[in-house]
Amino acid sequence: MRIVVVGQGAREHAFAKNLSSQHEVIVTPGNAGMAADVEVSSLDAADLDPDLVVIGPEVPLVEGLADRLRASGIDVLGPSALGAQLEGSKAFLKQLCAEAEVPTAAFGVATSLQEGRELFDRFGPPYVIKTDGLAAGKGVLVTNDRAEAEEDLAAKLAGISFGTAGTRVVIEEGMQGRELSVFALCNGHDFLLLPAARDYKRLGDGDRGPNTGGMGSISPVDDGDTAVLDAVGSSMIAPTLARLAKLGIEYRGILYAGVMLTASGPKLIEYNVRFGDPEAEVVLPRITGGLAEALLAAARGETIPSVRVSSQSAITVVVAAAGYPEDPKRGAPISGIEAARSLEGVLVFGAGVASRGGQSRDGETPSRPGSVRDGELVTASGRVLAVTGLGDTPAQARSRAYRGVELIDFDGLQYRRDIGS
Ligand code: AMP
Ligand code: GLY
Repeated sequence: MRIVVVGQGAREHAFAKNLSSQHEVIVTPGNAGMAADVEVSSLDAADLDPDLVVIGPEVPLVEGLADRLRASGIDVLGPSALGAQLEGSKAFLKQLCAEAEVPTAAFGVATSLQEGRELFDRFGPPYVIKTDGLAAGKGVLVTNDRAEAEEDLAAKLAGISFGTAGTRVVIEEGMQGRELSVFALCNGHDFLLLPAARDYKRLGDGDRGPNTGGMGSISPVDDGDTAVLDAVGSSMIAPTLARLAKLGIEYRGILYAGVMLTASGPKLIEYNVRFGDPEAEVVLPRITGGLAEALLAAARGETIPSVRVSSQSAITVVVAAAGYPEDPKRGAPISGIEAARSLEGVLVFGAGVASRGGQSRDGETPSRPGSVRDGELVTASGRVLAVTGLGDTPAQARSRAYRGVELIDFDGLQYRRDIGS
């Protein structure tokens, strides 16, 4: 099979790495950090003659890429623009949860300071304020400080912090508990649950500092056992697919439930319409067989065959640029990628990486594994690399991941020291 993966992050690299063990895989547009490992192209997915297209990120889904490709007869894993509203609009999500009776936090929508303050009064602390539109995982503030909450509300409504994505905000009741990322592969009416993962969203050790797109991840997760997954499947995924179908939306793609394990059972924090990043970098390496067949069946609306899952543990540490998340420093030369890749049980996925001089490697020399020289690649955005360790125990996975991270160097790099500890 010829599979095209759309996207340019570590998640897409993880998809391509897994699928390329059995199939021909091309990532578009990809990034220079993956080009030494998998084939990349700057061509449009439709022009690459694919048997299957897997769309990684949410933005092209919200913009209707899956609809466009399907209209030309291509099998696509990824929801339509309408289905992608589950992630593209928090207000759409909360409305659907209410209709489908999916357990989630109570909420209200505010378009003015007055409405926002009333919602703060109604729910009390902790105050949870979200932009309605897409904000790359950074549009949410959770705080006990009322003054900070009001300041954030005012900035979002004024379009200062997130432009028009923020001028309508969702304010929620605060929930408490451990978080779990659950991934359902959906064929429009039924689903297969993939291994669950835990994401470390805050920038700093001990879960301090600002929210980011994710600084690390682990899989499996102690409290992501079968009973919890069954509850998520039956109380969230199944009614959501049924409600979407009633709205005429046949959801074929990954549905990622961000779940809070509260004292009164699992509750939905949010849906994403794609795989998590960095969760993909721990979950996909643990799937040792059948991934392509399962993705193709889901894309075609057919019964999804199960996949083989290894009992190994995986831990991913994200290596981020200086200044991330506010103002990541670009252009810093990176060394140590090949050295880390050569370690046993270590995978290095490229994310915010470009070739020195800004040229894409695509079309220059054919990509050859093991051909990255120190200093040839530079930082290009906030999350630069994702380093995954695989091991027979969580401790072994962890020490392998950190051994890999320690070989990598660039000016001002930052990473968390406490992933999986
Ligand atoms: P989201 O982008 O909706 O996943 O939110 C980002 C993070 O904010 C989540 O991973 C949670 O840690 C936190 N969060 C979101 N909604 C709530 C809530 N209702 N109560 C408590 N924490 C929340
Ligand atoms: N790791 C969080 C996300 O992908 O949204």
